[in-house]
Amino acid sequence: MTQSIRIFDTTMRDGEQSPGASMTHDEKIELAKLLEDMRVDVIEAGFPIASQGDFEAVQAIARTIKTSTVCGLSRAGAKDIERCAEAVRPAPLKRIHTFISTSPIHMKHKLQMEPEAVLEAIHGSVSLARNFTDDVEWSAEDATRTERDFLLRAVEVAIRAGATTINLPDTVGYSFPSEYGALFADVIANVPGADEVIFSAHCHNDLGLAVANSLAAVQGGARQIECAINGLGERAGNAALEEIIMALRVRGDGMPYSTVVDATRLMMASKMVSRITGFPVQYNKAIVGKNAFAHESGIHQDGMLKHAQTYEIMRPEDVGQGATNLVMGKHSGRHAFKDKLRDMGYELSDNAFQDAFGRFKALADRKKHVYDDDIIALVDDAAAHYDDAIKVMRLRVVAGTDGPQTAEIDLEIDGKPAWTTQRGNGPVDAVFNAISALVPHSAILDLYQVHAVTEGTDAQAEVSVRLSEHGRIVTARSADADTLVASAKAYASALARLRAKRERGEDAQAVG
Ligand code: KIV
Ligand code: ZN
Repeated sequence: MTQSIRIFDTTMRDGEQSPGASMTHDEKIELAKLLEDMRVDVIEAGFPIASQGDFEAVQAIARTIKTSTVCGLSRAGAKDIERCAEAVRPAPLKRIHTFISTSPIHMKHKLQMEPEAVLEAIHGSVSLARNFTDDVEWSAEDATRTERDFLLRAVEVAIRAGATTINLPDTVGYSFPSEYGALFADVIANVPGADEVIFSAHCHNDLGLAVANSLAAVQGGARQIECAINGLGERAGNAALEEIIMALRVRGDGMPYSTVVDATRLMMASKMVSRITGFPVQYNKAIVGKNAFAHESGIHQDGMLKHAQTYEIMRPEDVGQGATNLVMGKHSGRHAFKDKLRDMGYELSDNAFQDAFGRFKALADRKKHVYDDDIIALVDDAAAHYDDAIKVMRLRVVAGTDGPQTAEIDLEIDGKPAWTTQRGNGPVDAVFNAISALVPHSAILDLYQVHAVTEGTDAQAEVSVRLSEHGRIVTARSADADTLVASAKAYASALARLRAKRERGEDAQAVG
């Protein structure tokens, strides 16, 4: 008999705290719907007190999601908890997740509170949260650097006050698996009432141990794992949801635990999060990386042809990875394209479909072979830029040895046309100078990265751009058969996102 493990997704909360990984309101709803379809147990939708935008996104998700629990984060203060309660109120299944630091270093320097005052705050915050819902999670921030006796007292207070889930986060990614597993076993064995609640693991990946630590916690008695798609999260990120799901599935022989998550949507979730945040997935990323099921060496390929299990412990289709296959060309029609999109898990509205089909035709005219990855890039690109207030309408660039490198650009800014021509130190610089002339800003370009979607010199280029301005960081990505067009679109989109963030008055919020 396997025991079930709850999956708590924090992509939209801890994940969004990753510098540059902001998501729009509509993108959060889109992601929440996918997480619900995947049967994720708990969706941590945001930190409602952090900004009006966060509050509205959590509330909209609470109105939309019916079968997963919708959770909001709050610190220990009454205002935080009340705001959080208001945001999750419409959800049929709602949770308030409240936390406070318990380690000496956090209590002394961050909270500037005495330990006894922290215990009082735990009691007050959990009791208050219980007035709004009977599903209350309490987290001991920096639990792994907390003195054990104090942690036992703190957990006891939280349980007595009515917490139903107790989370012991490895906030700074400091623990070893053996220590983290033992921490759970110790707390569960020694705190009165521990058998009445669910214990949860929340691991950061600073030493690359987040997934290993989460699994060790399960062996120590945890029955909920907090994780994020693509391992998104503060600093080095959280435990990757896809790795947790597949580790439990593939190694059921060694760990008799199961989740109800539909693993065949993992690839789609990974691509959606990558598209929304503009964070590319590294090629060799476990489970969802482009190379996760690729076999390059002759010996491996030979083995694979004889028997797939020689080098594969799971099948690509188990996680929704299709083989990169030749799909279509310029003669493929609307019907075939629609079927292809459906096979790939995309259900587009009529308008989005028309847009995607138009882009597909334009690409097929320029590119001999159109692969699955090309289609994913163009559909995701259409979705990513749907709401952009700054759009690239036309671009002409002079490049090459003779120079001067010049870009002539037509933008549409809030629906109004704007035009300029500018020079630069190379074609990309000229393009960015032209956009900056029309959209003045003081942002710094932190990252400009190009990669080819498929093989061949006619491959689409996928460009990622990251900008920062007074602590606000945004990332945007775009794909096009023309590298300079993709660069212009990514830059314009990043500026649109930065402007939206500025207007919403959003600043970086520091929570573990
Ligand atoms: O890492 C951490 O401690 C957190 C808590 C707020 C749960 O994210
Ligand atoms: Zn965290």
